Amino acid sequence: MMPSRWISSAAFVAALIAAPAFADDNVVTVGLILPMTGQQASTGKQEQAGANLYIQTHGDKVAGKTISLVVKDDTGAPDVTKRLAQDLIANDNAKALMGFGLTPLALAVAPVATEAKVPEIVTAAATAMITEKSPYIVRTSFTLPQAAAPMAEWCLKNNIHKVVTLVADYGPGNDAEKWFSDVFEKGGGQVIEKIRTPLKSPDFAPFLQRVKDDAPEALFVFLPSGQGAEFMKQFAERGLDKSGVRLIATGDVTDDDQLAGMGDAALGVVTTHHYSANHDSPENKAFVEAFEKANPGMRPNFMAVAAYDGMALLYQALEKTKGATDGDALIAAMKGLSWVSPRGPVAIDPDTRDIVQNIYVRKVDKVDGALFNVEFDTIPNVKDPYKASKN
Ligand code: PHB
Repeated sequence: MMPSRWISSAAFVAALIAAPAFADDNVVTVGLILPMTGQQASTGKQEQAGANLYIQTHGDKVAGKTISLVVKDDTGAPDVTKRLAQDLIANDNAKALMGFGLTPLALAVAPVATEAKVPEIVTAAATAMITEKSPYIVRTSFTLPQAAAPMAEWCLKNNIHKVVTLVADYGPGNDAEKWFSDVFEKGGGQVIEKIRTPLKSPDFAPFLQRVKDDAPEALFVFLPSGQGAEFMKQFAERGLDKSGVRLIATGDVTDDDQLAGMGDAALGVVTTHHYSANHDSPENKAFVEAFEKANPGMRPNFMAVAAYDGMALLYQALEKTKGATDGDALIAAMKGLSWVSPRGPVAIDPDTRDIVQNIYVRKVDKVDGALFNVEFDTIPNVKDPYKASKN
């Protein structure tokens, strides 16, 4: 017998044809698929809060339709993500899928989005090539080349010549390592060792010993959201924060979700990224205040803002299509849209369906006694450099 979780392609298509008979045309169901449990649970929690906040502050009605957000926990397992995506389309008549806490989870849904012609709005995963895997993928998070290349530029301008890189060993880590190293070496810098750590439950101790032995001027790090606090703890435990090795990273490491608890070892860490809860704009002040009111004890991170913007993107696309939910029409409407996000001005590149956004250079500092990523330089309107390099 077939396992009940297994849905054949033919059964999936048959279910797609049958589903609209039961659908309420006035309701637009959005399937938000996230890791709500397991190692990436902080991403799920932040993203759910971000999407809910958008609906709370903008209402659940757009272009004559009522938005219904259905949240599903994929536990961080790609086969579960894929099955949930199929179920949401076939059984819940979902007109858009959103979320995807890790690159393999976003990739698992790409063929489903293509077959069903349903938009897949990637609000977390950040390996550059994801948007190439389906014409129905649009992204509101970021790409690692977008964040890592500016870090290399900053090193070159700040008299740093010898660097060790340490990245999680999968798509976004490989992107971060490549784009940091290529830009740095092209500008005359030297990467003396490239270290890769396992994605699942990493113990950083043996890798940090190698960094200590290499004694570079700086250590460049990418780890997915949720691993930064443990890394910082082990970095400090080995005395590396006082060893003269400067810590630099993409902003995933000094994630706002964990930063307040990282302690003084994080002070002075320079990162490049697209969002800080400390970003100085009226839009961000309103966003942070509303987020913290709705979610006591939480501070929004870049995942929350990407889910908030994922909803903003869908609402604007529905306005443009006058409420039509046809996947091709929605994707066409999303291309080229621009708006002011809590992170600053953003746009959807019509050629790549990736987000164009400012990348900020930030330093961890205390603001009113709490640790924040304080922005001190802006690189405006950065397109994903990986796709730009192919044109
Ligand atoms: C990813 O798996 O693509 C990913 C996850 C978390 C991040 C960045 C990238 O912080």
